[in-house]
Amino acid sequence: MSKPKVFITRKWPASVEERLKLRYDVTLNLDDRPLTAEEFKHALQNYDAVCPTVCDSFPAEVLNVENKRCKILANFGVGYNHIDVDAAKAQNLIMTNTPGVLTESTADIAMTLLLMSARRGAEGDRLVRSKQWHGWCPTHMMSSDVTGATLGLIGFGRIAQAMARKAHHGFGMKIIYFKPSPADQSITDTLQATRCNSIEEVMQSADFVSLHCPGGDSTHHLINQQMFNLMKPTAHLINTARGDVVDTQALINTLKAKSIAGAGLDVYEGEPNVDERLLELENISLLPHLGSATIATRTAMGEKVLNNLEAYFSQNTLPDQVV
Ligand code: DGY
Repeated sequence: MSKPKVFITRKWPASVEERLKLRYDVTLNLDDRPLTAEEFKHALQNYDAVCPTVCDSFPAEVLNVENKRCKILANFGVGYNHIDVDAAKAQNLIMTNTPGVLTESTADIAMTLLLMSARRGAEGDRLVRSKQWHGWCPTHMMSSDVTGATLGLIGFGRIAQAMARKAHHGFGMKIIYFKPSPADQSITDTLQATRCNSIEEVMQSADFVSLHCPGGDSTHHLINQQMFNLMKPTAHLINTARGDVVDTQALINTLKAKSIAGAGLDVYEGEPNVDERLLELENISLLPHLGSATIATRTAMGEKVLNNLEAYFSQNTLPDQVV
C-alpha cells in the first residue's frame, strides 16, 4: 500500500523530519523558504495531510480551493489564529495543534521579557555595545524591582499558570489574574493568586501585566489606549501571546509619553514586520517570537504533530483535535 502524502510547510527539527520520512511520502521544506498562497493551495490539492505552522497564513481564500485531496491540517504550534477556523470547518477539514509541550519554554520567555523590561537589560546591552558606558555611578540606569512586585495575568491557562509559578515561587511575586471563570481552587491556593473582576482591575493594580489570551477576532486590540491609561506609570506590559491583542499605535503613544515604564514583546501585529517606530524606543525589549524556541520544545511540538498524523491515518482518536 502506498504511504500517505504529507506536506510540511517549513523546516522542522532534523530528528522529527527523519521520522516523517520513515512513515510518509513526505515533502519537506529544507530551505525553510516562506511559501505563497498558491503553494499552499497546491499542497491542499495534492497531499493527504498538510502541516502548516504559526507563520503560514491559511485564509478562506486558500482553504476553499477546489479539488482538495487534503483532509487534515496538522498544525505545528498551539496557536491557530493563522488558519480561518470557520472556513476549515465548512470544508470538513480536521485541524490539530500541539498544546502542553511549549508551556514552560513560553513562560520562561515571558519571565525573560519581564526581567529585561524591569531591569532595562536590552538598553544596558545596547549601551555597552555602543561604547557609551562610562562606568558605574549611584544613579545610573536605575530600574524597577521584580521581587515582591505584583504580576497581573490576562488569561490564566497553562502558560499563564507556569509563569505565575516561576514568578511567585522564584521571585516572591504577588499574583492577580483575570479569566472569565474562576480557576481551579487548588491552583490559586498554591500560588496565592487572586482573581480580579475585570481586565481593567488587573491593568490598574499590577506592576507587570502579562498577556496570555489566544489571538483572533475576540481579542483583537483588547489592550487599547483606554487600557494603557489605567496602568500605573511604573508598570510594564509583557506580550508573548499574539501581536494583535495589543493596539500597537496605543502602545507607541504610551511608551513615547512614558505613561508606563516599559514593555516587552515577543509577538507583533503583522508579524514578521515590526513597526519601525517601536525600534526607536528605548523603553521596550523586543524578541523575535522565541517563546517555544528551545531544541527540546520544538522537537516535542514536531512529535505531537506526528502523533496526530499517526492517529488520523490509523483511524484512532486524535490527541489534539481542535476542529
Ligand atoms: C504557538 O505555538 O502558537 C507559539 O506561538 C509558537 O511559539
